[in-house]
Amino acid sequence: MRLRGNAPCWCGSGRKFKRCHGDQRAMRLRPVRPGRVSPILAVPATVTPPDYVNGSIPVTSTSFQIHTGESLERLRVACRVAAEVLDTVGREVRPGVTTEELDRVAHEAYVTRGAYPSTLSYKGYPKSICTSVNEVICHGIPDDRPLEEGDIVNVDVTAYIKGMHGDTSATFPVGRVDPTLRALIDVTREATLLGIAAVAPGRPLNAIGNAIQPYAFAHGFGVVVDYGGHGIGSVFHASPHVNHTVHEWDTIEFQPGMTFTVEPMITAGSPNHHMWSDGWTVAANDLLPTAQFEHTVIVTDSGAEILTLTGQGDSPAGTLSRVEEGTVSHRP
Ligand code: MF3
Ligand code: CO
Ligand code: CO
Repeated sequence: MRLRGNAPCWCGSGRKFKRCHGDQRAMRLRPVRPGRVSPILAVPATVTPPDYVNGSIPVTSTSFQIHTGESLERLRVACRVAAEVLDTVGREVRPGVTTEELDRVAHEAYVTRGAYPSTLSYKGYPKSICTSVNEVICHGIPDDRPLEEGDIVNVDVTAYIKGMHGDTSATFPVGRVDPTLRALIDVTREATLLGIAAVAPGRPLNAIGNAIQPYAFAHGFGVVVDYGGHGIGSVFHASPHVNHTVHEWDTIEFQPGMTFTVEPMITAGSPNHHMWSDGWTVAANDLLPTAQFEHTVIVTDSGAEILTLTGQGDSPAGTLSRVEEGTVSHRP
């Protein structure tokens, strides 16, 4: 059950949730409006694009992506590059920076590593990352809107290199943000990691949603139902579809070598959404902020491993170390 407004806040303040971390008046920001989208950036001819860039229809594979040996080594490279691009862009998030400038930083970071930005010209998508500000749930298109102090922005990076896609995202605070939104970000990161930690061979696919949804609900937040994670590897979006909410009938068993993303979208208010007229941007109907984190993971012999980590082994989307120590649980 989702924590009710009149229930005591989960933080232990003794105040009602709706007067504490569930204070929707504190969370509500000025609605995001579509900005101007700059022309498409060029990719050097030395960087190999995926098939769909040159006219063919993107493959959405209905079979699982299983990786071992040489193909896993290539996937590891794509995932490391994605993590490094995300880390690089995250350092540029500050008030006054436009999402288009973040896109330019990302674009440069991909191509200097020899990677193609998987989203660029994917089904007509015009940019190298997605930037989803405040009430935008996912697939926001970078534009000329400067980030404002108090905003939150998800940056979603997908790198294609050596025939593989690596996909990762994180939500960053812009300058100082309200404590309710810091909590939304922290709970979303921890929900993502708990979902990943629930993965092990022989367990059912719904172990992920069974871990994520109750954690989000206990903090009074909502979970988006209609967008999920996906198998990934040589194909950008493959099976399985990974639900982040409770789905009793998702009983397919994880098997070693399966690679997919975990990428829950957590909402301060209702998870109901609509699409902007650009055909991409998905936003919460109630215009309350939402957060998302994403990792590409592989099922190991005993659990799951996060592949989207930098060369230093870390990520703005977090690592499993805190889950393993049993210290995941949000404290203000
Ligand atoms: N990276 C997104 C994901 O997590 C996909 C974005 S597709 C785009 O699956 F076309 F919207 F960019
Ligand atoms: Co994804
Ligand atoms: Co992504």
